[in-house]
Amino acid sequence: MTAQPTVLVTAATGNVGPHACAHLLRSGARVRALVLKDDPHVTRLPDGVEVHHGDLAVPESLDGALEGVDGVFWMWPFFTLDVRTAPEVLRRIEERARRIVLVSSVGVHIGLEPVDNNCHAYLEQLIERTGLEWTFLRTTGFMANALGFAAQIRAGDVVRFPYGAAARTSVHEGDLAEVGVRALLEDGHAGQKYLVSGPEVLTQEQQVQIIGDVLGRTLRWEDVHADEARKRMVAAGWPPSYADGALDYFARLTREPEVGSSVVAQVTGRPARTFRQWAEEHAGAFR
Ligand SMILES: NC(=O)c1ccc[n+]([C@@H]2O[C@H](COP(=O)([O-])OP(=O)(O)OC[C@H]3O[C@@H](n4cnc5c(N)ncnc54)[C@H](OP(=O)(O)O)[C@@H]3O)[C@@H](O)[C@H]2O)c1
Repeated sequence: MTAQPTVLVTAATGNVGPHACAHLLRSGARVRALVLKDDPHVTRLPDGVEVHHGDLAVPESLDGALEGVDGVFWMWPFFTLDVRTAPEVLRRIEERARRIVLVSSVGVHIGLEPVDNNCHAYLEQLIERTGLEWTFLRTTGFMANALGFAAQIRAGDVVRFPYGAAARTSVHEGDLAEVGVRALLEDGHAGQKYLVSGPEVLTQEQQVQIIGDVLGRTLRWEDVHADEARKRMVAAGWPPSYADGALDYFARLTREPEVGSSVVAQVTGRPARTFRQWAEEHAGAFR
């Protein structure tokens, strides 16, 4: 990479993007954030980031943001395949950048996400066909997914969701972002398909108990039938097949814990952050 590389972050105002932007700035890169026009979450971005408006579903709208970039921290915030726009966005990236990091998924790592119904496996295949130096971050679920319980915890002491015994190796979004930033800015990560996880195995119920500890409250988990959660997920915009896939995966994790790795520690040189640390940082969301 050049002495001061320019990096574009897509889906920049989500859970991972602000961390990625902050790490990039701290590492001395010039940082561009792609945000949808009038994105209400633009305030999440740290000072010093150049904001570029664009819509990932409209490939030509990215041209300004991609001009002169060295690397792209690529996140694809869509559930479904789009066989037109993804290749077209990637073609534009390949014309301009040298490196790309894709936030992919543990589902690809364990062979659960076939190419025909999930975008992560599909995006990996597209990228492998390019001449870019690529690194895939096959991440486990984010600790931030626990924010999905925040409304219930603010309203009472019981969290109702299926599969409390599902044992996860959830990752801190900041750790995932830092692995991606290092893969973009340092040599030695090209061609790696990193399984990125947190440092511990915790059931969903244990995560909720830790949130309770941090809040000084006793929280209780109540399993509900998967169909109830499925209805809510579909009503919130999840494609039914994706909701089914996620719930089947949770069911599987009640029988065998999610895979994990020490990639965060290996790549960053420090321990991966625990769920308790994440809960302390985000306690305000649950009060
Ligand atoms: N959550 C998990 O456990 C998990 C697990 C495995 C992999 N992943 C991957 O991780 C990625 C990052 O997740 P995340 O939670 O940080 O973010 P995300 O929820 O996937 O994406 C949210 C961001 O994308 C922006 N966005 C939405 N539609 C857009 C469009 N058409 N053009 C440009 N930007 C658009 C949103 O802007 P607005 O704020 O304006 O909506 C927001 O900044 C995901 O995309 C997924 O591929 C997540």
